[in-house]
Amino acid sequence: MEKAENVYRVTVMTDMHLMPGDYEDGFESVDKLVGASRPDFVVFNGDNFFGFNGEDLAFYDRLDAYFIEKGIKWTAILGNHDGEYNSADRRSIAEHIANLPGTVFELNPIGKRYGNFFYDTPVAGTALAFLDSGGKATLSERIRSGFSSKYAALTKEQIAFYLNEAHGKRAVFLFIHIPLNEFENGYYLALANCKVIYGAVRENITPEGKLNRFGDIVCSPAVNTGFFDAAAKEGNLKAVFAGHDHLNDFAVDYKGVRLVQVQRSFSSKLASYGFKKRGFTDFSGATVLDVTENGFDVKQLFLKDLSKDL
Ligand SMILES: [Fe+2]
Repeated sequence: MEKAENVYRVTVMTDMHLMPGDYEDGFESVDKLVGASRPDFVVFNGDNFFGFNGEDLAFYDRLDAYFIEKGIKWTAILGNHDGEYNSADRRSIAEHIANLPGTVFELNPIGKRYGNFFYDTPVAGTALAFLDSGGKATLSERIRSGFSSKYAALTKEQIAFYLNEAHGKRAVFLFIHIPLNEFENGYYLALANCKVIYGAVRENITPEGKLNRFGDIVCSPAVNTGFFDAAAKEGNLKAVFAGHDHLNDFAVDYKGVRLVQVQRSFSSKLASYGFKKRGFTDFSGATVLDVTENGFDVKQLFLKDLSKDL
């Protein structure tokens, strides 16, 4: 993958859902994607590494040592499943990551959300922002959604934190696990106008190619707490990168903000669904963000296109 000299590159991987038996193959995938994209920064965008006997936390240690050796900064954010299938709860996972020497992760708890922080890139006035989008919605939120979604939303306190930190920046790139409610509208509006930049929504398509009218399309929060409108008004939010929906991988522009569903980064033989298990071409890989003085670009990188010796 080409990389111009003045580019600050962020490689985003998501929803690896690694189980103990997956760790070697998972590490190989990370190494291939890093080798091919040559990033300055790597983000694991949630639902990362699972295990019940400490293997999950040890894998974070292994990645930290790997990135220190490569001279690459990195962080992880928490997904809805992190803490569910782990040796530790969400807070303890976050504390573990925060204590690693090579990561830029900051614990900064806001209520029960962990890892809310900004990281300034070397490109003047630009920052990467990270927020913990939580896990499950409360019962009252689910009732308000008519039980159409079970997922949590960013809290008012997180939105206030974001707006305060983002103020005065030239460009902010946000990383969250659960896609904002605007992702679905943004995608279909772009589709209707032939303006999808790349990728597709596949969550509601069966392997036989039928539309599942009752299936999830973009699994967004049960309630919209107003993050997008508040952040977009500031004018400096350039892109939002979300994971969570393993089969979706689109990029669209919506009200001046690029909305990106990040490439799912690993197809486990052991657990969870993915492209192959649902009968699609295997688009596993990474999403690559290039930041420059003049703007930014977002690209897909597929594991299927990478040769073994990369
Ligand atoms: Fe998820």
